[in-house]
Amino acid sequence: MRVLGIETSCDETAVAIVEAPAASAPLGNPPGGKILANVVYSQMTEHRRFGGVVPEIAARAHLERLDGLVAEALAEAKLDLAELDGIAATGGPGLIGGVMVGVMTAKAMAFAHDKPFLAVNHLEGHALSVRLTEDVAFPYLLLLVSGGHCQLLTVRGPGDFARLGTTIDDAVGECFDKTAKLLGLGFPGGPAVERAAQGGDADRFQLPRPMWKKPGCDFSFSGLKTAVRQAVEKLSRDDEQAVADLCASFQRTVGDVLVDRCTNALAVAPNDTLVVAGGVAANAYLRGRLEKLGPRFVAPPVKLCTDNGAMIAWAGLERLRLGKTDSLDFRPRPRWPLDVESRT
Ligand code: KG4
Ligand code: ZN
Repeated sequence: MRVLGIETSCDETAVAIVEAPAASAPLGNPPGGKILANVVYSQMTEHRRFGGVVPEIAARAHLERLDGLVAEALAEAKLDLAELDGIAATGGPGLIGGVMVGVMTAKAMAFAHDKPFLAVNHLEGHALSVRLTEDVAFPYLLLLVSGGHCQLLTVRGPGDFARLGTTIDDAVGECFDKTAKLLGLGFPGGPAVERAAQGGDADRFQLPRPMWKKPGCDFSFSGLKTAVRQAVEKLSRDDEQAVADLCASFQRTVGDVLVDRCTNALAVAPNDTLVVAGGVAANAYLRGRLEKLGPRFVAPPVKLCTDNGAMIAWAGLERLRLGKTDSLDFRPRPRWPLDVESRT
């Protein structure tokens, strides 16, 4: 089975083609696929001077780039559209203009070539991505940490999630981005903070650890964001050591909170596998902290942590294998929770 996946929900225009056997045992096990093509156009330069993603600019850039990237992916995989078994696109959540560009393009290709169309929840793309490259069976505990989300879930199968906790205010990636912005480290913030933290003294700044040692699996990051801002106001951004120390202290605080929340999640929903996914999962320090928690720890390769087309193609393929296709009147969903019980 070969599925082409399109990702346009934020500032990355991405197209990939993945391949896997058509049949899978009950519960979708074992996993495993092959990436035949994976092309990404990062709009970083378009957005950098604004210090964040500008939705209108993002939508236009997706529109300008997407057709070319589809052609590039097909050429890389040495395939014709007719040789695909399905076309998947991120159907939300995300910036609506970009999601519309991806969904309309995928629908048009599916219609013209009489192929199944798959509307993939972006979060499901992150959630299942680990199964593309690693041998991870359902159910597993997932820490999903990205620019817009911070959640703990039990992943029971495609479209089958039980949410254990979520952030009550900001996402952790957003907190990394804000810290980088305050320190003038550039955009996107996560990799910049991680780089700056190297050689920093994590003991120098005592920052609050929101929700730490509290019951439950919810997160909160707004207090930490405020504390970082107050610390930045007291230091000189030219003081490289102070910047490194603050980044290291911040990163360790985030690590403490994530470890504490995952410990609670493992207590309420015991599991022998902990998976981390989403852009922040690219962070080597945080991976190292989570690795020590106890259960088998698995993370996608760093390249597949941040937004990419392969995770959308893979989630589409997992859905296609179960016959979970979508009709061409699917409407893009700017908000789309993973678990059916929640409304946020
Ligand atoms: O999953 P993603 O690419 O997009 C969303 O779905 O949001 O995540 C992007 C987020 C950004 O906030 C970025 O700063 C963060 O992931 N990020 C990192 C690292 N690489 C990306 N955060 C910490 N350390 C990193 N190495
Ligand atoms: Zn994402």
